[in-house]
Amino acid sequence: MTGFPQFVYHSDALYVESVPLHQIAEQYGTPCYVYSRAALTQAYRDFDTAFAARDHLICYAVKANSNIAILNLLARLGSGFDIVSGGELQRVIKAGGDPRKTVFSGVGKTIQEMRMALDVGILCFNVESESELNALNQTASEMGKIAAVSLRVNPDVDARTHPYISTGLKENKFGVPADEAMRIYQAAHLYPHVRFTGLDCHIGSQLTELSPFIEASGKMLSLLDALQAKGLTIEHLDLGGGLGIRYTDESPPSIQNYVAALCAQTARATQRLLIEPGRSLVGNAGILLTRVAYLKHTSARNFAIVDAAMNDLMRPSLYDAYHDILPVRSNGLATDTYQVVGPVCETGDFLGHDRLLALRDGDLLAVMSAGAYGMSMSSNYNTRPRAAEVMVDKDAVHLIRQRETVDQLIASERILSG
Ligand code: LLP
Repeated sequence: MTGFPQFVYHSDALYVESVPLHQIAEQYGTPCYVYSRAALTQAYRDFDTAFAARDHLICYAVKANSNIAILNLLARLGSGFDIVSGGELQRVIKAGGDPRKTVFSGVGKTIQEMRMALDVGILCFNVESESELNALNQTASEMGKIAAVSLRVNPDVDARTHPYISTGLKENKFGVPADEAMRIYQAAHLYPHVRFTGLDCHIGSQLTELSPFIEASGKMLSLLDALQAKGLTIEHLDLGGGLGIRYTDESPPSIQNYVAALCAQTARATQRLLIEPGRSLVGNAGILLTRVAYLKHTSARNFAIVDAAMNDLMRPSLYDAYHDILPVRSNGLATDTYQVVGPVCETGDFLGHDRLLALRDGDLLAVMSAGAYGMSMSSNYNTRPRAAEVMVDKDAVHLIRQRETVDQLIASERILSG
């Protein structure tokens, strides 16, 4: 039992859907990200079904995993997108996503990015400051366009998650306070090239409780009431992303319970509901496949040096995040306690501490729950080409990103001529 329905053992070998992972390692090499189309589809459908009674739009947070095959599959399911850069917008378009179902978040949008988004006609800019609003109004004016805008409100709610990924407290850089938002919406006449269409918030990521979501949506609803009392028409309410997943022993709310809570809390609002889930759509749809290069036993500790590293999966090093690490095939040996580490020259380069595993050189391991913020946060540190990515669909394996080569990495670098 792995706890992940699309990643299961059949006679001691770990499969993704109908494909043994060792077969993928042999064909595509390691490290390699492996995704399950069925898991991705199921998660999207769970959201969509839970929202069935409500006018809604699911805007997948592209930053969680921006591979165009993933964006394309979600677009085919009807998903919209939440982007935070012009680059992500280009990916959405390339993947066949609909700009009119795309919202643009982030505190530092450039004029060039605003232009690109206005040009393709995105659904809405989630604006995070008055300065940004001025810049957007000016840019839209130069282009003879009207920009649809939601202000991102900082509801000052404690998401009770890792401080690096908590965004809804007043000391965080995100959004504007509710009273300031109220003032800006009422000053709409100052922004003739902006149309205020929505209201937005996002309080953090990997939330494992419902109460912060309920508190934030309650605050948003009060603000909505106040805006409507002033005669403003708001068309949609965007409640952001943030639903956590199970990495080990967390018990986050189910997608059904989460959506039901958002719907119940905002029941009296007639507006369309938007959400921006990232991790909860892709996190448990992917794993990182890696091979043990060497075992090293010292008097202090046992190390399993694997061929994936912090540059491939940064979450353990950056957030001290826990990812389950499972054997791809059992080898009949006795278990030992291992530090699972990569080849990068830093003590902070680890994938897991104190893991009970039975290992020998060359064994394969699956780092679980790596579908979100894995590949998308990877780097080339130590001049390590980034991993390949494959998507399994029943018994078919599709390469969705080729392994990088060192030639590609250095192709744009130049030696001084003199
Ligand atoms: N909307 C906005 C405006 C966001 O900033 C984020 C994530 C999301 C939606 C999606 O949140 P999700 O549903 O995935 O929790 N690298 C970190 C997570 C950073 C999240 C940043 N913002 C990690 O690996 O845990």
